Amino acid sequence: MKAIDIRNKYLNFFKAHGHAVIPSAPLIPENDPSVLFNTAGMQPLVPYLLGAKHPEGTRLTDAQKCLRTNDIDEVGDNRHLTYFEMLGNWSLGDYFKEESIAMSYEFLTKELGIPNEKLSVTCFAGDEDCPRDELTAECWRKAGIPDDRIYFYGKDDNWWIAGEEGPCGPDTEMFYDTGKEPCSPDCGPSCDCGKYVEIWNNVFMEYLKKDGKYTKLAQKNVDTGLGLERMTMLLEGKQTPFDTEIFSPIMEELQRLAKKDDISSRRIVAEHLRASIMIIQDGGRPSNIDRGYILRRLIRRMTRHLNKLEIDLDKLSNLIQLNIDTLNELYPELQNNKETIKEVIIAEKDKFIKTLVRGEREFDKVIGRIKSQAKQEIDSEEIFKLYETYGFPPEVTKDLAEENGLQVNMDEVDKLFKAHQDKSRLGSEQKFKGGLAGTGEQEVKYHTATHLLNAALKLVIGQDVHQRGSNITPERMRFDFSCDHKLSDDEKQKAEDIVNEWIKQNLAVTVLTMKKDEAIKSGAECMFIEKYPEDVTVYSIGDISKELCGGPHVKNTGELGHFKITKEEACSSGVRRIKAVLE
Ligand code: SER
Repeated sequence: MKAIDIRNKYLNFFKAHGHAVIPSAPLIPENDPSVLFNTAGMQPLVPYLLGAKHPEGTRLTDAQKCLRTNDIDEVGDNRHLTYFEMLGNWSLGDYFKEESIAMSYEFLTKELGIPNEKLSVTCFAGDEDCPRDELTAECWRKAGIPDDRIYFYGKDDNWWIAGEEGPCGPDTEMFYDTGKEPCSPDCGPSCDCGKYVEIWNNVFMEYLKKDGKYTKLAQKNVDTGLGLERMTMLLEGKQTPFDTEIFSPIMEELQRLAKKDDISSRRIVAEHLRASIMIIQDGGRPSNIDRGYILRRLIRRMTRHLNKLEIDLDKLSNLIQLNIDTLNELYPELQNNKETIKEVIIAEKDKFIKTLVRGEREFDKVIGRIKSQAKQEIDSEEIFKLYETYGFPPEVTKDLAEENGLQVNMDEVDKLFKAHQDKSRLGSEQKFKGGLAGTGEQEVKYHTATHLLNAALKLVIGQDVHQRGSNITPERMRFDFSCDHKLSDDEKQKAEDIVNEWIKQNLAVTVLTMKKDEAIKSGAECMFIEKYPEDVTVYSIGDISKELCGGPHVKNTGELGHFKITKEEACSSGVRRIKAVLE
């Protein structure tokens, strides 16, 4: 079964069971400083899991674009991916364990045709925070899974939380038995020998973890996630996601073009190219911090492996096109942006290639020295020096060193970088561990100020200024927008004055629910059209600003205080960033 058919079956099945089909949120979350990318289907839904009312009701389903980079270094083996799509269904205080498990079982066996004998399931074994989940096991028995295929595990395996804090709970996971021999008498779903492949995770989200303590949420939720690439692999009878129709055209083309045979490099190129395309599609651009740096890393790593495969880099444009064509059924919208996607990737490749060639030359000298001394490890100082002198990124040196059988102490490298105040590059992934975005009083004010600044910049610079991102903390706001030049002092001053004038005018902030098309027709601003459901909320401020937005906002601009721009800088190519405070 093809990926698009699995996705359609999933969404239709849950639609038939009363769920509203909502669009995927963009990969890059808006107004959520806690994560760089959406890493699970539940992430954009956190406010609703915590109790806010969702405009589409209490049963939702979607196919969410996700990116996880904690395992970026593992890509190249037979299973790890950074970008993937998560099919999910949610109950926001609606159904709970019984109905959720009955639907999952029906979907797997009837819709996808997976035989009962292929399925094993796991449940939470219980501890001092939450009792053993007997009800879930009972539901599985009722569905037809015998006791010898129902396993109980502790928090490590059967508890789910995004990051450190937030909504969470025990989960039940479904596994597909590949039919391989058990690796030992203890072999079971928690074993990673490859006999069992996890296919679906249903989280029974009735707890909130805060300050290390668990309390009950006001409502009992269900949050499920099924990995599309993995299911496609199983249903196509393939051993790895790279052998499925999602990757095989590009894998085959890479093999045809390569002068060196290296399957791991081919996988890295195919995987990172797809992830880069998806990030760029959703507005990401390479830069030196946070998500921009993840994109930069992906493109650099891909470039290095293209080089390693001895593939002519002029072929990159065709490879991107082939990738976009391969993804045509799943993401037809990529075709509209193909020129931008190619430009961004190729420009970044061009920037990196000189550094790469020079750095590799220097690295070879270092390797020669190390080998002549019969050492097993590369000195962290050498890695730092390659960066400082030649701009050679530490993660590239690390990859190269490991390919040459040398050990690397990245913790020590990290320390050296920290000592040199260059934390942002290596530290960016720390954010993946973060908790939830706050919506305290101060954040709400900054949120409204963001709309004012967006409108003010249009007056000062031009109507083609558009929001490209934003990030709010209780201390400040950050606003990224399309603009091809550094703002002059005069422009900054004007924008600031206009915002303060609007604050002084005590403009009312009003909200209306409209159909999405109507809202767009009425001239409302919106950053990612596909993110929004059919019925949207539109916030207007006097008659100076109108944006599609989930809120919340202040009632009146007079509440904001004095607005001050503290910084204006480049964010990525064609995108500027303003930081501002309310005093
Ligand atoms: N949030 C859970 C996961 O990511 C289920 O969707 O696995």
